[in-house]
Amino acid sequence: MNKAWRSIILLGLISLLLAALAFGCAQKAPTPPTTATIPAGEPDPAVWGKVYPDQYASYLKQKEMTKGNSKYGGSVPESHLKEAPVQVKLFAGYPFSEDYNEERGHVWALEDVTKTQRVGPKTISSCWNCKSPNVPPLIEKMGDSFWSTPFDQLKDQIKHPIACADCHDAQTNALKITRVTLLDALKTRGVDPAKLSRQEMRTMVCAQCHVEYYFRPEDKRVTYPWKYGLKMDDAEKLYEEINFKDWDHKESGAPMLKAQHPDYELFSTGVHAANGVACADCHMPYIKQGTSKISSHQIQSPLNSLSQSCQTCHKQSEQYLKDQVIGTQDQVFKTKVSLEKALSDAIDAINTASKNPNAKAEMMTQARTLHRKSQWRWDYISAENSMGFHSPKEALRVLGEGIDLARQAQLTANLAVGTAAGGTANPDAGKTPGAGTSVDAAGPGAAPKQQ
Ligand code: HEC
Ligand code: HEC
Ligand code: HEC
Ligand code: HEC
Repeated sequence: MNKAWRSIILLGLISLLLAALAFGCAQKAPTPPTTATIPAGEPDPAVWGKVYPDQYASYLKQKEMTKGNSKYGGSVPESHLKEAPVQVKLFAGYPFSEDYNEERGHVWALEDVTKTQRVGPKTISSCWNCKSPNVPPLIEKMGDSFWSTPFDQLKDQIKHPIACADCHDAQTNALKITRVTLLDALKTRGVDPAKLSRQEMRTMVCAQCHVEYYFRPEDKRVTYPWKYGLKMDDAEKLYEEINFKDWDHKESGAPMLKAQHPDYELFSTGVHAANGVACADCHMPYIKQGTSKISSHQIQSPLNSLSQSCQTCHKQSEQYLKDQVIGTQDQVFKTKVSLEKALSDAIDAINTASKNPNAKAEMMTQARTLHRKSQWRWDYISAENSMGFHSPKEALRVLGEGIDLARQAQLTANLAVGTAAGGTANPDAGKTPGAGTSVDAAGPGAAPKQQ
């Protein structure tokens, strides 16, 4: 074989290789639909699975329940109450004190919501909103009467847990916002959903459900408190404005707020959001499935896919990245435990003071308001699902404020009955660093700092 021939063969091989590479990359793009068609809004993921078998197979893997590399997250439905019995006290008078488990994969959403002891005869259909692709057509049919319909009444029509139709358009397979509740909230914020970029949609499909919400008092429509912005303080401002409460605390008598799961909101305050990283970048990384490359639909803790989820952007080792996540979470967890202790002390102080007929009523009201504000901060970070990782600085700021407010609540209750700073009502009060100084600064009987 002469030189020229060898070069020609070599060139041929190189172009073959390049073609193969190009093909490999092309696989990253959405797989074009096959001849089978999916009816609009089709709720059954098995029907979608005939057209997109790889994504369906990956989706079904959410059935696996593992703790994996997680320390605080994972997919095992462990009880948060057994983990931290103080939470029973914090939720006194509210169903969360009876049953509160770690969440798991989307495929379990229906089983979990129907099984929890928090669902009772008074539960309404608003609770179906983030559990099933059967919901949007029902809302379309029933209008605003959907929300307050008894939960059990729609049970037979809710057949599938969270699935393809919750995030995709059946005809085009494009990502789609299917929840009117998110469309409402975007409107409140002046965001046109049609103008969201593909990268923004890779977050917004998740923000349909992974958010803080309340039931609009007049018709129980699920509503996101985004009128003033996405931060904890913005939601609180709205709740104060409409005088909202979820329940009265059984021990302190304070009108309480229950946080849901403000994953999207907390995430929005963090460094990843600021750099345009989307939920799907970490939770749905590209993976190899058979011969093709797909977005993982086994949505779970990214600690179980550090190389695919993080090393696309970070060059450090998996061990380093894991240590970064867990180190951050440890710090947030420790601060959260300090706040639980402070809240528990505040509840005791208010409870004790309220039994004293001479307690100053105005100060008791102030102490209860402080309890409400403090526990809202605790719950906001506690109910958020990442143990602070989504935005560590913000998580620590919120918890820090919570500790200050809880100690102020404790102090105010003690002052209301004249037992502050070394009094007998709460021997812990004097030992708390900072508490003594506040007494001096405020002076006995002075109103605590409060909006
Ligand atoms: C930069 C990567 C990254 C991005 C982007 C991200 N997350 Fe996370 N998320 C994590 C990590 C890390 C954890 C902690 C997992 C653990 O503790 O096992 C987590 C935890 C979670 C959990 C709890 C998982 C479990 O196993 O308990 C949920 C739910 C979640 N994130 C939702 C979201 C949503 C919704 C968004 C977008 C608004 C988002 N995440 C964006 C990295 C990310
Ligand atoms: C239709 C509502 C809905 C949408 C849309 C949704 N989620 Fe969820 N997600 C849930 C619910 C409900 C759970 C808890 C399920 C359970 O515990 O039964 C959950 C659980 C999770 C978990 C915990 C999984 C585990 O194994 O512990 C992660 C992570 C998660 N979602 C991330 C995401 C991401 C990322 C997106 C967007 C790509 C998203 N979710 C979109 C409602 C939704
Ligand atoms: C919680 C939201 C969510 C659910 C549920 C969901 N997907 Fe996806 N899917 C996504 C996101 C996000 C992407 C990435 C889209 C992008 O990058 O533009 C995606 C991408 C895809 C793609 C494009 C190719 C790829 O892998 O990136 C296909 C096909 C697909 N999904 C099919 C399905 C099927 C089939 C189901 C049900 C078995 C399903 N999806 C359920 C959010 C979801
Ligand atoms: C799409 C790119 C991208 C992905 C994917 C990504 N990150 Fe990041 N990450 C960034 C950028 C950009 C920053 C900000 C860097 C800066 O400002 O110096 C950052 C910052 C961080 C920081 C510093 C946080 C802080 O508060 O200062 C940590 C820790 C981190 N990432 C961990 C992770 C982990 C763990 C994962 C996977 C679960 C991950 N990242 C996935 C782009 C990414």
